[in-house]
This record gives sequence, structure tokens and C-alpha cells, in this order.
Amino acid sequence: MGAEPLEFEGRETDPVSAERVLGLKCRLCGKQYPKEALNFCTDDFGPLEVAYDYEAIARTFSREAVATRPQTMWRYWDLLPIDGEPTVGRHVGRTPLIRADRLAKALGVGELYIKNDAVNHPSLSFKDRVVAVALSKAVEFGFQTVGCASTGNLAGSVAANAAAAGLDAYVLIPDGLEQGKVLGAMIHGARVVAIEGNYDHVNRLCSQIAFRFGWGFVNVNLRPFYAEGSKSMGFEIAEDLGWRVPDHVVAPMAGGSLIGKIHKAFKELEILGALENPVKTRLHGAQATGCNPISATVKSGASKVKPVKNPNTIAKSLAIGDPADGYFASQLIRDTGGWSDDVDDDSIIDAMRLLAETEGIWAETAGGVTLAVTRKLIEDGRIDRDESIVVCIAGNGLKTQEPLLERMARPTVIKPSLEAFEALLERDAAPALATV
Ligand SMILES: Cc1ncc(COP(=O)(O)O)c(C=O)c1O
Ligand SMILES: [Zn+2]
Repeated sequence: MGAEPLEFEGRETDPVSAERVLGLKCRLCGKQYPKEALNFCTDDFGPLEVAYDYEAIARTFSREAVATRPQTMWRYWDLLPIDGEPTVGRHVGRTPLIRADRLAKALGVGELYIKNDAVNHPSLSFKDRVVAVALSKAVEFGFQTVGCASTGNLAGSVAANAAAAGLDAYVLIPDGLEQGKVLGAMIHGARVVAIEGNYDHVNRLCSQIAFRFGWGFVNVNLRPFYAEGSKSMGFEIAEDLGWRVPDHVVAPMAGGSLIGKIHKAFKELEILGALENPVKTRLHGAQATGCNPISATVKSGASKVKPVKNPNTIAKSLAIGDPADGYFASQLIRDTGGWSDDVDDDSIIDAMRLLAETEGIWAETAGGVTLAVTRKLIEDGRIDRDESIVVCIAGNGLKTQEPLLERMARPTVIKPSLEAFEALLERDAAPALATV
């Protein structure tokens, strides 16, 4: 397989590594399944989720044990669904949680943090977390060929992590994605296939391919395992807040999985007695107005998610018209007392610039969505200005340059002389005069 196991302290002597993970369970009817590459219930097509034995987990998991482990997402291995050592994505996670006081001041709030997965290793998005689990599981199951349906970030992550693990990767994307996303997948030697259609067409085709060829598609037949990787973002947030959970989390939503897994992570830490405060966090979801199936559901109070047929937004990574976990995301948002909103393209750009100018963080368009929605929630009084807020930035601005190039000024060009520079400073000092 080409993937060497990663040694963890205390891991070889762990007597319960396999027993922690009971199997899969249907989220609709509760039917149980063994650990296998399957994502839906054969009775009712409900999505399958990993089921754990928390008593077994409590035998190895403690805050003190975590503190001795590697500074990666795998420091929470007890709560991730792999049976042996993780073999793929061994350096993923443990991204900074940044106290963002300058941004907080601009938004008029007191306690604001950025969870910065724009700098996640190796492919600069939170998708490395889900891929690390999915591909470690793929190796366990014996798949040599893996794949994904992607809106961009997953493409780069599967390609990079598969390359490092010696796996063959097929990456399917909707045609017309940003250059940075496409190149970021192709550079690793993955077979990148662009489909004439939107993400929902890509996803449907990937389901057919996965089952026809018996390959491990991370977000199709490996999806129950894959999705669990996002919990590591929640574990890290809590640990970095001193084993406390915040009052509010704002998360970007495409398929609607990440938001639910952050909440699940908090609840698991609570079950294990690892938290200083009870989980009363309100989960808020962020979408673009050009593709807002989940926020439209929350805002209308509907119980069913109505798919968006033709997504149209610069936040291409969030452009999933028919979100697999949309129903559960909207329920969670309601149950936790959160809200979901959506923002237009100009607000997305404004928020990307605000984050970059106040905190020095260049997020991708989806990050602009998340921050712009946060601002809206604060202005609308849905987030109290005195309460703690974590904004999840899930991808890097280097990969979504096109909409910025269209909207931002070019650098000023001058001759290589001090006189030319002084003339520039004069012009800068008198901008009103310079334009007359
Ligand atoms: C940057 C970014 N943020 C958020 C998401 C949404 O994740 P989920 O599909 O789990 O809702 C994605 C998914 O592609 C993404 O690329
Ligand atoms: Zn079922």
C-alpha cells in the first residue's frame, strides 16, 4: 500500500482499539451494520453513521492523555473511526484558533475567534481532516483506487493525500472550477475529470462509479467514516478554549456535514466528562444566496430541504444544490437555537477583505460567506455582542483568486527611482487632489 503506520505513544498497548468502534447505524431507523464501505441503509436509504462505545473510549481518552500526543488531529484518535494505526494524513489538523480582537472591534463584539483551517496541511482546507480518516479507512479495507466528488477543496485533498499514500485517485469535479482548485488536484497526478454539469450531477455519477468499479469514494461509500474526520475541528476548538465550548459557532455549509460534526465533537467531549462548561453552543450555518438550500429551509421553517437547481455563486466550494446532510443540519440549527443565513457575492468579497485587513488571514470565498453571515447574525441580534463566537474558516484564498482579480485594483506601477516613489507618496497623501 505504500503507507507506513504512524506510531503513537500508548497505542500499541491499547486493548480496545477495535472495540471502540461498534459499526455503522442508520440515522433514520437505527438499523446496525458492520464496519464496511457503505453509506446508506438498505431498508430506507437513510444515511449511515459510525456508532461508538464511549465506555471503551473512556478507558484511553482523557485530557491528560491527549496532552501527551502528537500535535495533529490524531491526538483524538480514540474518537475517530479507525481500527488500527492511521496510515494516511498523518500531519493533518491542529490548526490555530486565533483570538481576533481587531476583527471583533470592527464587528462590535467582545470575544471572537477564528478557527483557521486555511492553513491545514497538506492541501489548505478542512477537507484534509475528512480525507485523512477516509483514506486511512480505505487502506484498512484494502482499496487501491480511491476517488471523490468535489466542489474543489476535496479534489486537492484526495489527490494530495492519495499521492502521499501511494493510492490511485480519480477526482470528479463540475466543469468551471477555479484554476487553483483544478491545478491543486492535477499536480499530484490524480486523474481529474470535469463533468458538464453541477455538483449534484457529479455526485450522482460518483455513486454509480463507486459501486460499479468497487472503488473507495471518500464521500460516497466511505462517507460515514469520512464525515467523522470533521469532528477533529470541534475537539481542537474546545481544547484551545481551555476545554470549554463557545456560546456560538458559525460554520460554512455545502453538504451540511461539517456543522453537525462540530456539534457532535462537543457532545462527545461532554459525554466523556472532558468539558468545563455544558454544551449550550448555538450552531449557525452560512451559505451563499446563490446556493442556499439549507438556510432557506431554516428561514422558512420548512421540514424538508428544497434543492437549488442551478447554483450560482462565487463561493463554488459551497455550491451543493441538494445537500446530503441538509435535513440534519437544519434540524441541528433549530435544536441548538442557532440560525442560518446567506449572503450575496459582493458581501462575500467585502468580508474576505475585512478578514484579511484586520487579522492577516486570506480565506477563500467560503470564508467570506462565513464571516459575512456572522456579521449579519450580529447585526440582526441573533448573536449577542457579549457572547463568545468561533468563526470557522475552512479554506485558503490562494485557491479562489478569480473573483478577487475581477474586483480589486491592480498595484501601482512606477519607475525604479526615489523621485517616482516620492511622487507616489505625495499622491497618496492627497488622494482627492490626485483625481482632479
Ligand atoms: C471551504 C469549505 N467550507 C465548507 C465546506 C462545507 O462542508 P460540508 O459539505 O461538510 O457542509 C466545504 C465543502 O466542500 C468547503 O470546501
Ligand atoms: Zn434505515
